[in-house]
Formats: sequence, C-alpha cells, structure tokens
Amino acid sequence: MIDLDKAKKEFEKYVKPYDIQNAKISRKIAHSYRVVEVSEQIAKSLNLTEEDIELAKLIGLLHDIGRFEQIRIYDTFSDKDSIDHANLGVKILFEDGLIRNFIEENKYDEIIYKAIKNHNKYAIEEGLNERELLHAKIIRDADKTDIYEIYINDLAKNVYVAYNYDNISKEKISDKILETVKAHKLVNRYDIKNEADKYVSSLAFVFDFYFKKGLEIVKERQYITKLINRVKTKDNEAEMNLIEENIQEYFKERNV
Ligand SMILES: [Fe+2]
Repeated sequence: MIDLDKAKKEFEKYVKPYDIQNAKISRKIAHSYRVVEVSEQIAKSLNLTEEDIELAKLIGLLHDIGRFEQIRIYDTFSDKDSIDHANLGVKILFEDGLIRNFIEENKYDEIIYKAIKNHNKYAIEEGLNERELLHAKIIRDADKTDIYEIYINDLAKNVYVAYNYDNISKEKISDKILETVKAHKLVNRYDIKNEADKYVSSLAFVFDFYFKKGLEIVKERQYITKLINRVKTKDNEAEMNLIEENIQEYFKERNV
C-alpha cells in the first residue's frame, strides 16, 4: 500500500537539515508538493486505478529528491555544470536505500526508479514496460507543467533565481533555437548558447507533453503569454511573437 501522508512526513524529515532560507531549497520543496498535485490531475485524467494515482503522486513527491544534495554540494540547478540530479536522486533512493522510508513494499521500485531516472532526460530510454513508461511520462509532464509555475512565481516576487529577465530581453535568440521552435520540437540543451536561448527552450517544453492535461493547465494559466510578455522588447518582438504563434498553433494541433 502507498501511504502518501507518511511519505510526505518522511519527505519533510528528509529536507529538514537543508537550509530552508536558501530560495533554491524552498522553491524545490514547494515544487515537489505541487508536482504531486499535477501528477494526480494527470493520472485522474487518464482514468487510472487508485493504486496508479497514488503511485504517480509518490513519484511526483520524490522525483527531485536529488536536487537538495545537488544544491548543497554544487549550489546550482544546472546539471550541465554539476551532476545529473535525476541520477543522483535514484542513487539516494535505491543505492543508499532511502526509498524504504517512503514506501515499505518494494514492488513498485522498478517503476519509481525508471520514472525518476528518466524525468529530466532529453527522451525516455528504451526498454521500459507499459506501466513504467506510463509513470515516466506522467512525471515528465507534471514536472514541465510546474516549471512554468516556478517562473511565474519568480516573476511575481521579482526574484531572479532561474533567470535574469533583463539579460534575456537584451540577448539574441540563436537561429538554431528558433528553427527548433518552428519545427515544434524540444530544444537540445547543447544548442543553448545564452540565457535567452535557455528561456526559449523552457517555453518549448510544451512540444514534449505526452498527455493533454498538462498542456491544458499551461494554456488555462496563460503561462506562455505571461512569460513571453515579460521579456518582450522592441528588439526581440518579432522573434517572441513568432515563438508565441508557434506555441498557440501547437495547442490547436493538440486540440487543447
Ligand atoms: Fe527534476
């Protein structure tokens, strides 16, 4: 049985030793809880069993467990500049054995392992069975949905944890990135040359949603329009409009 309340208490215990005053830590805690909720919404939209809904929520809670050590050791969220936080997460859970604090039974271990390991990769690895793949997809969608919420919260508070919005407004978006957006494809992180490219690559996450539910949330909450408007200037207006048009077009294609 999956006892999510118990898992949440254990999660609280796990994060307690970390510096809660550090904005990066508190953001990730709040993110984890919100991802539980989005995962639940997605799982319900797919008419999954109660068991799979609870499992999706548990994976949501634990998917970023590697972030806390990543921040403690490297003080950055950039996997490129530090360590792959998903690989670190599964190491903490399954090599160090922390998973048993969150769930007594081991029958979901493979599903949890593969979902977390694959949540931040460019694509899901080969060889997952149907149920493993389902949960890997749910967490990828839920995580992406909430990334926009994080940025919007940063905007509301005027904090620059993820981005320096003023830099983005001044930088030129690389042609390669714009081509990828026009093709309605996810940006490869190695094509990112500056902060503006990185910002646009986050907007392009919409092209990588498996299920409609996450996309519907992104559209309803107008994340894309708000984020584009925040960085739009006279200099980048044409590019920003092009990006927004492509994303709106994509929503239509997906019947969202
Ligand atoms: Fe993550």
